[in-house]
Amino acid sequence: MNYLKKFLIIAILALVVPVAVRGADPAAPESGKVIKITAKKFEYNPNKITLKKGVPVTLEFTSLDRLHGFSCPDLGIRGDILPGKGLKIQFTPQKAGTFPFHCDIFCGEGHENMTGEFIVTE
Ligand code: CUA
Repeated sequence: MNYLKKFLIIAILALVVPVAVRGADPAAPESGKVIKITAKKFEYNPNKITLKKGVPVTLEFTSLDRLHGFSCPDLGIRGDILPGKGLKIQFTPQKAGTFPFHCDIFCGEGHENMTGEFIVTE
């Protein structure tokens, strides 16, 4: 295997593994895993979130700067992410697929690009 290939695999793992580890937070309530997401102009981090169909999850949003929105119409969830207060959404994805989400409160020049997606697996 050439060096570049090896490097790419390690780089991808470095991006994916921390999300998986964070999702397995032992302090999480038994109602499901907790996923922490930060919001700032103009991105969510992480912005690709993998969930399992039928498994309850808690999304914990924190804003690093100002008021942002969070909306995922396909999954029927939305809320306001208030600085200093955050936003908690508990839900259970009921269908598999890829579902985009976006900021739905105007927050500046790059507002339209503040997006992400859920990947719900069977
Ligand atoms: Cu963040 Cu609009």
